Amino acid sequence: MKFSLTPLAVVAMSALSASAYTIKFVNNCGYTVWPAVGKAPNGQPDNSVRFGARLNSKASTSFNVGDRELGIRAWGRTGCDANGANCATGRCNGGLVCNDAGITSNCILSEYGFGDNGPQWGGMRTFWNLSRAGLSGRPSLPLNIPTRLQGPDGQVVACTGGSCPANQCYLKDDDHGAVRNSPLGGTFTHTFCP
Ligand SMILES: *[C@@H]1O[C@H](CO)[C@@H](O)[C@H](O)[C@H]1NC(C)=O
Repeated sequence: MKFSLTPLAVVAMSALSASAYTIKFVNNCGYTVWPAVGKAPNGQPDNSVRFGARLNSKASTSFNVGDRELGIRAWGRTGCDANGANCATGRCNGGLVCNDAGITSNCILSEYGFGDNGPQWGGMRTFWNLSRAGLSGRPSLPLNIPTRLQGPDGQVVACTGGSCPANQCYLKDDDHGAVRNSPLGGTFTHTFCP
């Protein structure tokens, strides 16, 4: 009996450990940034996944997202008021926590979604990217915060004032060189002012 339970326990533990990934925001800027996370698969806001915080210079914070989620987006806001609302850049409807998944943010986003490549091609993965493409092809405003995104397997993309090539960040919807994918779980580090 004892031995027949052991494999079950191992399966349960590995399922648990792979059930979410973490988005860790690191603020290396010399100013306060208000990070936000939202969910908008196909551009439709879904408030079942959302997060907002105030992050002082040199501080960090984290948020966990179920690894089957689609249309997850994370970004930084600047120049917000004392309630975390009315931001100068990256603004949303709502306050510290947004109600619109950032579809009005018009700034650089990190984006995440579940995909299954099939067993022979790496199986279930998190697909991710940096994007300034906005929604519906709307061009972004000038870069609001230099941004770097590191995946759980060490892959890195970055878009800074001096360099934001199409293989690092979607500038328009068909820049498919910007997409990356990684095993489920782990930590994505979204760094402001890398
Ligand atoms: C970036 O990745 C997300 C998640 O996989 C995806 O939904 C989105 O369409 C990608 N961005 C662009 C501009 O294709």
